[in-house]
Amino acid sequence: MSALESPSKANKSKPQVIQSIRGMNDILPDEMAAWQFLEQAIRQVVASYGYQEIRTPEVEKTALFSRAIGDVTDIVEKEMYTFDDRNGDSLSLRPEGTAGFVRAGIEHGLFYNQVQRLWYLGSMFRHERPQKGRYRRFFQFGAEVVGLPGPDVDAELILMSARLWQTLGIQDKLTLQINSLGSLESRAVYREKLVQYFTAHRSKLDADSERRLQSNPLRILDSKHPDMQPIIKGAPHLGDYLDAESRAHFDALLARLEAAGLAYEINPHLVRGLDYYVHGIYEWVTDALGAQGTVCAGGRYDGLIGQLGGRETPATGFAMGLERAVALLSDVPSNAPHAYMVLIGEAAEQAGLLWAEKLRDRSPDISVLCHGGGGSVKSQFKRADKSGARFALVLDDEGLASETLLCKDLRGEQAEQRLKIDELVSILL
Ligand code: HAM
Repeated sequence: MSALESPSKANKSKPQVIQSIRGMNDILPDEMAAWQFLEQAIRQVVASYGYQEIRTPEVEKTALFSRAIGDVTDIVEKEMYTFDDRNGDSLSLRPEGTAGFVRAGIEHGLFYNQVQRLWYLGSMFRHERPQKGRYRRFFQFGAEVVGLPGPDVDAELILMSARLWQTLGIQDKLTLQINSLGSLESRAVYREKLVQYFTAHRSKLDADSERRLQSNPLRILDSKHPDMQPIIKGAPHLGDYLDAESRAHFDALLARLEAAGLAYEINPHLVRGLDYYVHGIYEWVTDALGAQGTVCAGGRYDGLIGQLGGRETPATGFAMGLERAVALLSDVPSNAPHAYMVLIGEAAEQAGLLWAEKLRDRSPDISVLCHGGGGSVKSQFKRADKSGARFALVLDDEGLASETLLCKDLRGEQAEQRLKIDELVSILL
């Protein structure tokens, strides 16, 4: 501030509003009913399969992600939020949950001669171009199984995801696409074939694909570049190069899905954007969300635990994008309170809080919003209406004297009645 500027004038200038970071969204109260419905369904489904929860940090050493996901992947090359912390260590916001999950499991000895079936839910961060269904901060629910070579447990995971769609009522909007990357050995053979094929078409490759020709040719198959599509279409299929063991693993997985009556489509071009996969990989896709149609994706990653310094242990899992699942929901149960307490008269205003407590004492499932801040009866009823509560419970002098509340149905047909607290419980719940 200059010496000439008066402090009172400087104080008057309004501070600039600071906006959120592009692609990192607030989830606002009126969206929460859908999120809560989804998260409750997730918790219910994982519990019904006996999976336990794990929570790992949002930030990990950068080297973890480059080693786990692969140096030559879009995620590691272009999309990570990476920074040096005050000690000069390179850290990154997690772009996905599997790497941190595996790190934690190795660090705490969770994988040593044990079978683990675990799940997680949390924010992930990728510096992608934001658009509908694609954000820079998004939520994933993931489920991972360690210690079982499959394919029965791969099928279990897929059935678990299918049960989640059923619970959410979105099963008709999703299709299961599946493919096999085969064992590491059969992938190496296929890799050679791909390099030969794409080298023969070198002049038509876009810059990214040209660069990946030697470093990671499988990723070329995932290119979204329109000019690349005809070349990709003609590329050899991984399925034709599976060795006998890989073929048997995949066939057994498909047989289990068929036995469970689960429909799938084999997509020979499905490769996934992360390097750690082997054998069966899959994506649940929808055409209801435009370009960002993959709601849930996963597969087997038998080599990853060894690659991150643990003892070689088979593992498999998937992750679902919560924003995309929320966007598919249509019928979401309300999370409005059961009742709004309207307080008429000074005595009721003073006693209201305690009456609301008495109701809550009767059952932990009752939700009551108690009016605060005074105001006319009309304005209180307006707020009751806005709260979404089914009932208004009016406390007035008469009620205080007779220990009753006047119960008014704000949304249905029930007649107004004066009731004791114990009588109210069964009406509210
Ligand atoms: P992913 O395919 O990279 O796999 O991500 C899984 C899901 O997260 C996607 O299908 C999508 O629904 C959601 N997702 C990814 N990026 C975004 C974004 N920018 N905005 C909104 N949603 C997004 C993995 O992350 C693996 N860790 C899955 C896995 C677990 N594989 C084995 N275990």
